[in-house]
Amino acid sequence: MRFAAIKCFRESCPIQKIIVSLHRKYCAKAGCTANNYQTKTNMRQRLFYLFVLATILASCSGDKVKYRIGISQCSDDIWRDKQNAELRMGAYFHDNVELKFAAAYDSDERQVEQIDSLVNDGIDLLIVAPNQVQTISPAIDRAYDKGIPVIVFERKTSSQKHTAFISADNYEMGRVMGEYIVSRLHGQGTLLEIKGLEGSSPAIERHNGFMDAIKDAPGIKVVGSLQGDWTEPTAYERTKQWLANHKDVRVDLVFGANDRTAMGARRAFQLLTQSGEAGRGPLFCGIDGLPGENGGIQLVRDSLLDASYIYPTHGDQIIELAVNILEGKPYEKETLMMSALVTSDNAKVLLMQGEELMRQADRLDQLHHKADNYLHELDTQRIVNWLAIGIIALLIVIFVLFYLYHLRKISMQRARVVNTLWNLKPEDVTVISEPSESQKTSEISEASGSSVIPEESDASAVSLFITRFKEVVEARLTDSNTSVEDLAEDMNLSRVQLYRKVKAVTGSSPVELLRTARLSCAYQLLLTTDKSVSEVAYAVGFTAPSYFTKCFKEEYGMVPGDVRK
Ligand code: FRU
Repeated sequence: MRFAAIKCFRESCPIQKIIVSLHRKYCAKAGCTANNYQTKTNMRQRLFYLFVLATILASCSGDKVKYRIGISQCSDDIWRDKQNAELRMGAYFHDNVELKFAAAYDSDERQVEQIDSLVNDGIDLLIVAPNQVQTISPAIDRAYDKGIPVIVFERKTSSQKHTAFISADNYEMGRVMGEYIVSRLHGQGTLLEIKGLEGSSPAIERHNGFMDAIKDAPGIKVVGSLQGDWTEPTAYERTKQWLANHKDVRVDLVFGANDRTAMGARRAFQLLTQSGEAGRGPLFCGIDGLPGENGGIQLVRDSLLDASYIYPTHGDQIIELAVNILEGKPYEKETLMMSALVTSDNAKVLLMQGEELMRQADRLDQLHHKADNYLHELDTQRIVNWLAIGIIALLIVIFVLFYLYHLRKISMQRARVVNTLWNLKPEDVTVISEPSESQKTSEISEASGSSVIPEESDASAVSLFITRFKEVVEARLTDSNTSVEDLAEDMNLSRVQLYRKVKAVTGSSPVELLRTARLSCAYQLLLTTDKSVSEVAYAVGFTAPSYFTKCFKEEYGMVPGDVRK
């Protein structure tokens, strides 16, 4: 039963796992089986469970992840880094959203594997930027067919199996850049184009938009179109090779499908300029226009690039869309994000704005971490509090148990005293005599039964003494005025002599024995007569029924009225 209760807690709670394994170890050690488990449970075990239950409650009541969102990025670069940071930031605004990132480093096979494994991990929604149009589609379709909502972002697939699509308009970007270039060259000049990764939708669309924009400008001539793959080193290598093969071809402007590509081409041209093989270098244009260090905006401001185009990352917007889908709220099936051209005219302002935004985002991030740490501390504090409560409860239980044990011990001692006096047979007591002066002190302090009786005593004298003392006590039982002196007088002894002898034989004082005998007699009267409690109290020599009740409770652990229940 208890095990079942523990089992029903969420599997994801680490403390619960530890406790369940502790329990199993405990059972294994104690040799418990399902049948004998209950019988083997002892008090210590009960306290243990009480304690761990409190700990479980304290530790497992925290946050639970509601939505697991898998993010499959085709690449890993500064553009993706910025977007991932925004995705994380977007998740801060939603309770219990967990993000799982995977980066494929421009490899189709790796991205397919990563999508499949995200799906197997049980994600609730997939956000994916497919490396190429055709190659990644089957994996995305598999996820979609399993009922997982899919957001395709920024790059397209060949399939319609997705829940929503979000991106900037890549065709429009290529077209606007083409128009800019035509006007920048005043309708006259030669171009070298370095395309993005073959088969990836932004590369295709940017190229198409660009070509459409320049086709009506007869003075613009494309002297070369190289296949890039979005990376700087590939653009550098291919441009270098092209330049080696086209030494006499003049280039006025290079259009790279993204800023990194444009910068790779620039590096290759610089090599020629440095070696004196080329005159003034061409202009370079790209796309991405990232803010921050070495981002496209800064490159334009510093005139390393002539123009760029902001390719929006908007990770927080993507998370917003994802949460809307997961929560069944209305959402746009297709979102096209707005964007803008970056030239030397606006680069400075855009850079400042971009940096300010990044600063704010950074502060938000720090704030989030602070809040996270605070919540963490709160959780720890809560566990500590529960532990403290558990320990206090444990101490209270131990104290109560100890107190009950103590009461029981006292009542057993009393019972022994009565037995000692009223059931003691002369032959149980071997010796008794008037103790010598040296023995007196130790007897009074040590005597606790028949074993301490002085050896030279006479057994029959003990027997006579006990019989006589019982008679005297029983005769005086009902008399509330009876004092120790009265008992001593009846026994023809001094008060001190009576005390020593009685203490030596029974371990109790005469007064204690008189009261125990009264209470014992009262117990019998309560059982065998229908006298009231007060009548019984008076009958056994108590002058106040309330005092009688108090003494009775101390003796028997219950009030006199309870005897008849
Ligand atoms: C980032 C990136 C960008 C480019 C985009 C195209 O991974 O290569 O530089 O604009 O992807 O999808």
